[in-house]
Amino acid sequence: MGSDTNDRSDTSRNLEQWQLDGSAPALYQRYLVPAVTALWAADLVDRAALQAGEGVLDVACGTGVVARIAAERVGASGRVAALDLNSGMLTVARSLPMVANASAVIAWYEGSALALPFPDAVFDVVLCQLGLQFFPDCPLALREMRRGLTSRGRIALNVFGPIEHNPATHALSVALDSHIGPDASRAKRAEHALSDTEDLRKLMAGAGFHTVIIETATKLVRFPSPSDYVRIQLTATPLATLAATYDAATWERLIEALVTDVGAVLMPYVGEEGLAFPQEVHSVLATS
Ligand SMILES: C[S@@+](CC[C@H](N)C(=O)[O-])C[C@H]1O[C@@H](n2cnc3c(N)ncnc32)[C@H](O)[C@@H]1O
Repeated sequence: MGSDTNDRSDTSRNLEQWQLDGSAPALYQRYLVPAVTALWAADLVDRAALQAGEGVLDVACGTGVVARIAAERVGASGRVAALDLNSGMLTVARSLPMVANASAVIAWYEGSALALPFPDAVFDVVLCQLGLQFFPDCPLALREMRRGLTSRGRIALNVFGPIEHNPATHALSVALDSHIGPDASRAKRAEHALSDTEDLRKLMAGAGFHTVIIETATKLVRFPSPSDYVRIQLTATPLATLAATYDAATWERLIEALVTDVGAVLMPYVGEEGLAFPQEVHSVLATS
C-alpha cells in the first residue's frame, strides 16, 4: 500500500482510536473477551510458539487476554510486559487473577504503541492482537515493535479480514449508517482498516521485518442472539459513545431499529444455540 499507508498515517496522526470510557472496559472483558478475543488469543500465542524463559511484550493488551496466556507459556522464568493506551482497560487487566501458578509475572504499562517505553532489543517476542489497525501511525508502531526485539526476535500479530467476510459487523455497520448517519459506523469499519494482506505485507517489510508469513483463518463467534450482539457492541466498544447523543427513550428506539435490521440479516446464522457467525482474521508472523 506504500502511499495508502502514508496517507492513512498522515491524515489520522494523533487521532487515537478504539478508546473506552466508564464501564465499557469491564463490559469488554465480560462479554467480548470470551466471545471474540479469547478465541484469537489462544491462536496467536500458539502461532508465536513461545518458549519457557522468553521475554514477551503484548502491545495494545486491552484487558490482558493475550498477556495472561503468554505468561503461562513462558512460565516463571520468563518475563511478560503488557502495554495499552487506555487506563480503564489496564485497571481491569490488573484486577484479574492469573490462571496458572507457574506463570511469569506481568508488568502492565500505560503508554502508546507509537513510543514504546522500553530500551532497544529487550524482548524475544512481540505480540499484538487486534490492535495495529487502530494505531494512528502503523509504520511507526511496527518500527517501535521491531526496535524492542532482539536480533533473533519474532513478532506475531493479527488483524481482522475484510468487513464483508464478517456478516455481523457488516450488518451492524449498514444499520448504523441507515438509522444514525454515515459517520456512526466509522469505529466499526475502522476495525477492518488493515484487511488487505498485500498492504500488511508491505507494512511489515517497510518496518524492516523479515520472513513475513500471513495466514488467514475463520472462526465461529457466538452470542446468545442478534439482540445481544447489537447491545454488547453498543455498550462494550467505542460505539458506546453514541448513546450520549440521545435521550434514553430515543436511544432505546434506535437500538430496537438496529436490532431489527441486524436480526433480519443474521437470521441464517441463528440456530438452537443462538447466534454463530464467521469472523475472519489475518495472522502475521515475522522475524526481526
Ligand atoms: C480491540 S482492543 C484489543 C485488546 C486486546 N489485544 C484483546 O485482544 O482483547 C484494541 C486495543 O488497542 C488499544 N489501543 C488503541 N490505540 C492504541 C495505541 N496508540 N497504543 C496502545 N494501545 C492502543 C485500545 O486501548 C484497546 O485496548
